[in-house]
Amino acid sequence: MCGIVGYIGYEQAAPFLLSGLEKLEYRGYDSAGICLNDGNELVVKKAKGKLAELKKLTDNGKNIFGTVGIGHTRWATHGEPSDVNAHPHLSDSCRFAVVHNGIIENYLQLKDYLSSRGVVFRSKTDTEVIAQLIEYYYKGDLIDTVIKVLSKLDGSYALGVISQENPDEIIAVRKESPLIIGLGDNENYIASDVPAILAKTRKIYRLENNEIAIIRRDTVKIINTDKEDVKKQIETVNWDIDAAEKGGYEHFMFKEIMEQPKAIRDTITPRIKDRRVVLDEISLTADQIRKYNKINILACGSAYHVGVVAKYIFEKILRKPVEADLASEFRYRDPIIDDKTLTIVISQSGETADTKEALKEAKRRGSHVISIVNVVGSAIACESDDVIYTWAGPEIAVATTKAYSTQLAVIYLMAIYFGDLMETITDYEYEMYISELEALPSKIEKILDNEESIQYLASKLFNSKDVFFIGRNIDYALSLEGSLKLKEISYIHSEAYAAGELKHGTISLIEEGTLVIALATHEELIGKIISNIEEVQARGAYVLGIASENHKEVGNVAQSAIFIPKTCDMMLPSLAVVPLQLFAYYVASLKGCDIDKPRNLAKSVTVE
Ligand code: F6R
Repeated sequence: MCGIVGYIGYEQAAPFLLSGLEKLEYRGYDSAGICLNDGNELVVKKAKGKLAELKKLTDNGKNIFGTVGIGHTRWATHGEPSDVNAHPHLSDSCRFAVVHNGIIENYLQLKDYLSSRGVVFRSKTDTEVIAQLIEYYYKGDLIDTVIKVLSKLDGSYALGVISQENPDEIIAVRKESPLIIGLGDNENYIASDVPAILAKTRKIYRLENNEIAIIRRDTVKIINTDKEDVKKQIETVNWDIDAAEKGGYEHFMFKEIMEQPKAIRDTITPRIKDRRVVLDEISLTADQIRKYNKINILACGSAYHVGVVAKYIFEKILRKPVEADLASEFRYRDPIIDDKTLTIVISQSGETADTKEALKEAKRRGSHVISIVNVVGSAIACESDDVIYTWAGPEIAVATTKAYSTQLAVIYLMAIYFGDLMETITDYEYEMYISELEALPSKIEKILDNEESIQYLASKLFNSKDVFFIGRNIDYALSLEGSLKLKEISYIHSEAYAAGELKHGTISLIEEGTLVIALATHEELIGKIISNIEEVQARGAYVLGIASENHKEVGNVAQSAIFIPKTCDMMLPSLAVVPLQLFAYYVASLKGCDIDKPRNLAKSVTVE
């Protein structure tokens, strides 16, 4: 969602602010702005729309001066996308400027309070109250003022503040919304995410909740809200800078699809030693694991779809009841969960607001939480009892691909590990699963080598108006992801259906030429899905089947088919998802869609 950058040094700040914001574009936004202290006053430039508008307005940063500045990309929540609602926001007298990620829940009360005392607001945002409150309470000490203002705010925030009063300082604060400080030579930076500063430095501090950073050109001091010093470890980011660049590909999404074999290798290799799964990250003893009587999985979007796959896998292998819950619904249904339930939370960003709140609810009710997270040090990682990181590297495209695949890989590792501890898998199965897991990356490479055939199919089918994805069992779980991938980036209406459910209503929507993508990978259910294919064909559907290469009969029934290499049932989603991702990608590309930044979407959904 929103993005924050800030610079303090001896160079002109604007070029860094603009390029930093560019690196955060992937998070999703609808306006952008920067504010610099030019030595006399705080100068703000803001523009609705893409960053290109702001660049035009500032002549690529050449007509706005100053060596201290903050910048922001805004994803509208309070107030429509517009120049005036864009950040940074200034206080009444223009002495203080603020950029903010998150939501101030009590902003209306604060706004009423200030308005009744004569403060005039310019925007409809919750953020402006912060700038106005700073001015209202300012008595000569900016830190004291910021601490006082924080005590008035309910909600979540990452803040960057600059002022005319303290021209050689940026104040940064974090509560529930990520913020990092980049450490340079005689210059320092703030950012809501690592890619923004990667070209400048790899040395960072990650702010924790309620920490305040006072950032000058050559020092960074971190304190808590009692003004006590906080000692922090410098973290070195080990991302390869190329990981956050397109590297010659037209889109991040395509690059990330192609990176999946490596991402899976990086995730599984350190966790398989002497042909045994080693999950040192899990602090539970074998005895504790055996005693759980239920597993609850909490996640949103594609990560939830991994949870649905996991439900099928865990129930089959571990013989324990598993619930896959939409994190956005979990808290509102008084869930039955306690210390006998093991909770697994899945999140790429580690910042998704609903997932984070569901996690807290599970913990409040006594459940042990293991999270599967991609972003190191993110809020969900910090709040969990145990964290298993997916080593997918930075995922920039809004539509997830490699994170989804590495989350699945962790689910397989957990299924093997728990299955062994619970003695629900045999030695033979254990060995077979390890072999299949190790073979996955090269099997995915084989599918990727054949991507032109999927491009060809996309060129035949990209004009579809409605698409139905059908499957049974684990294929149904995968069809949820296939459908989401297609609709979110190509804007084609699509639905995922348990194949047996179609005839309970939805089959009435099938007409001449409707595209049905039938997932037919599940060995035991091939016969049944073939019957479902025939049912929809009888009503005029065009069927694209996706099957294992040992089930060529699917190709005889469906009008078109894509075959994937053979693997064990549990791991089929890792192979079958690749053609679905490529199909969605090529359809969106042929339709001329903004693939990496689909409309209305944000990479990291930090509001509930
Ligand atoms: C879809 C997609 C989203 C995310 C969802 C959860 O392609 O990426 O559905 O999966 O917003 O995000 P994380 O995993 O960051 O919690």
